[in-house]
Amino acid sequence: MPANYNNSAWFYDRLSRMVYGRALINAQVYLLQYVPANAVVLIAGGGTGWILEELTKIHPSGLQITYVEVAADMMALSKKRNTGSNKVTFINDAVENVTPDTKFDVVITPFLFDNFTEQTTEKVFNHLHNLLKPGGLWLNADFQLTGKWWQNVLLRSMFLFFKILCNIEASKLPDVDRQFGVHGYKTIEERTFFGDFIISKVYK
Ligand SMILES: C[S@@+](CC[C@H](N)C(=O)[O-])C[C@H]1O[C@@H](n2cnc3c(N)ncnc32)[C@H](O)[C@@H]1O
Repeated sequence: MPANYNNSAWFYDRLSRMVYGRALINAQVYLLQYVPANAVVLIAGGGTGWILEELTKIHPSGLQITYVEVAADMMALSKKRNTGSNKVTFINDAVENVTPDTKFDVVITPFLFDNFTEQTTEKVFNHLHNLLKPGGLWLNADFQLTGKWWQNVLLRSMFLFFKILCNIEASKLPDVDRQFGVHGYKTIEERTFFGDFIISKVYK
């Protein structure tokens, strides 16, 4: 059975705010400043969709957004978001199954890869890489371990919690940096949050 975030849709944001305060939001809002005006944007695994409202605060119009979310309950919440005059296409499917006819100026993966094993990460990464225009930007936010004991404790608790509730396949963080390196991406900006446990990177 694949992972399913439906069970957590109704409390996901409240729980993440309880544990991390605004850190998960700040990590993603930091990345959104790099989305150029009138860009064609892919958001993969947007959760309850608050990121759409944050993006709309920066660009109230002109964007063409494809919003892909595999959990139907997350998608239902996302569709209620204010997206201004931007054009948004909602696709309720796993992003690796989605083959749009356009390529994207920007791909956003907010806490997506931490769900996956190395094998799935590689597959999803390759798929997204092929959807990004040459010279496009890839905005990625995720957890990282920098040697602080509490990071391991928090990470293990999260994996256990989401394994029981949502059946996620991961039990350790995949090496996403390696994927970016293998595919020739360079980090052009980065910032850490929540005592370095969260890292947001702009890749080109
Ligand atoms: C850890 S949550 C993060 C949600 C949101 N980005 C946030 O920060 O609040 C991961 C999200 O990715 C979605 N997801 C997992 N695998 C996916 C896939 N293959 N394609 C699209 N969405 C996926 C899940 O349903 C879930 O909503």
